[in-house]
Amino acid sequence: MIIWDEATMGTGVPELDTQHKKLFEKFNEFSEALASKKSLEAAGDILDFLQFYAKWHFGQEEDCMNKYKCPIADQNKKAHAEFLKKFDRFYTEWQTGNMTSKLAQKTYNELELWLVNHVARTDTQLRPCVKK
Ligand SMILES: [Fe+2]
Ligand SMILES: [Fe+2]
Repeated sequence: MIIWDEATMGTGVPELDTQHKKLFEKFNEFSEALASKKSLEAAGDILDFLQFYAKWHFGQEEDCMNKYKCPIADQNKKAHAEFLKKFDRFYTEWQTGNMTSKLAQKTYNELELWLVNHVARTDTQLRPCVKK
């Protein structure tokens, strides 16, 4: 389970923090659904949501970094593209039913780890830019 934390993950932009919290919440829900094999359909629905929401959030955040002239704006954008590529692959395999739940869990754990690290290390670099 991933938990959002103001001190290490706050970006200085309340809207983006709210979006991160939502992403974490949905990631946790997906993990729970995956663990209880009964709710594979629910897991699929959450994945549908995440597919849409992650893309939308990244766009919002990229605009925000440009607006505040954040020096890592490009790096952030590239990282988002990489994540979406990984996520899309996961999503497609899930949709086609080619994924064992073991593999789904493994891939999911990687995506989750990526998200936590990305928010804490990259997205938080927005904070000093907002303060200026
Ligand atoms: Fe973000
Ligand atoms: Fe980001």
